[in-house]
Amino acid sequence: MTKVLILGANGQLARNTTRVFLEKTDVQLTLYLRRASRLKNPDPSRATIVEGDVLDAGRLRDAVRGQDVVYANLAGDMARQARAIVEAMHAAGVKRLIFVSSMGIYGEVPGQTDRSVLDPYRDSAAEIEKSDLDYTILRPGWFVRGGKDSIRITQKGEPFIGHDISLDGLSELITKLATTPGLYLRCSIGVSSP
Ligand SMILES: NC(=O)c1ccc[n+]([C@@H]2O[C@H](COP(=O)([O-])OP(=O)(O)OC[C@H]3O[C@@H](n4cnc5c(N)ncnc54)[C@H](OP(=O)(O)O)[C@@H]3O)[C@@H](O)[C@H]2O)c1
Repeated sequence: MTKVLILGANGQLARNTTRVFLEKTDVQLTLYLRRASRLKNPDPSRATIVEGDVLDAGRLRDAVRGQDVVYANLAGDMARQARAIVEAMHAAGVKRLIFVSSMGIYGEVPGQTDRSVLDPYRDSAAEIEKSDLDYTILRPGWFVRGGKDSIRITQKGEPFIGHDISLDGLSELITKLATTPGLYLRCSIGVSSP
């Protein structure tokens, strides 16, 4: 059975994706977050909650050990977080990483002007791309609830198409990436709703 570690498990997308993992797959989840008392375990038979900061190297390494997939749903000092994740995954011998970033990190959104707000996202993607991990970087549009769950994918080097992404559609893509060997390996993909 696939074991998935979710970093930043109290985030909006992480909580939605936890629900989809539990509803649509048989994976075992480890939910890693700061101040763990905020999160109620949604299914104690399949999920374990671990309190920790991604920048706590020892605790992160312990959490990564024995996992098949790491799904990072973070914000803040993302370049430092990305370096910490790559180091912990190397130390634990875990290869598969799904890392949530943002549309616009390569200037790929037509009409895009201010890019500085995306510096942490761009820098963290660069850290991951230079690693030897089996990564998929996701560059989603704006999260919206409701609407169609279908998604449109653009590759790195192509213009981003669209603006919004259904939260459920994005969560379903993450669960597919975690459970389908070889899907979008070493890719940075733009994701939006058609
Ligand atoms: N919302 C959108 O429309 C949109 C669009 C494109 C991209 N994105 C990006 O997609 C990502 C996920 O979005 P989201 O809405 O799920 O974000 P979110 O709700 O802000 O979740 C991010 C999580 O990261 C955690 N975190 C930050 N630093 C951490 C650390 N050092 N150790 C452990 N956890 C840490 C935060 O934990 P705490 O709760 O402890 O602070 C928070 O729960 C974000 O980077 C966001 O900017 C969002």
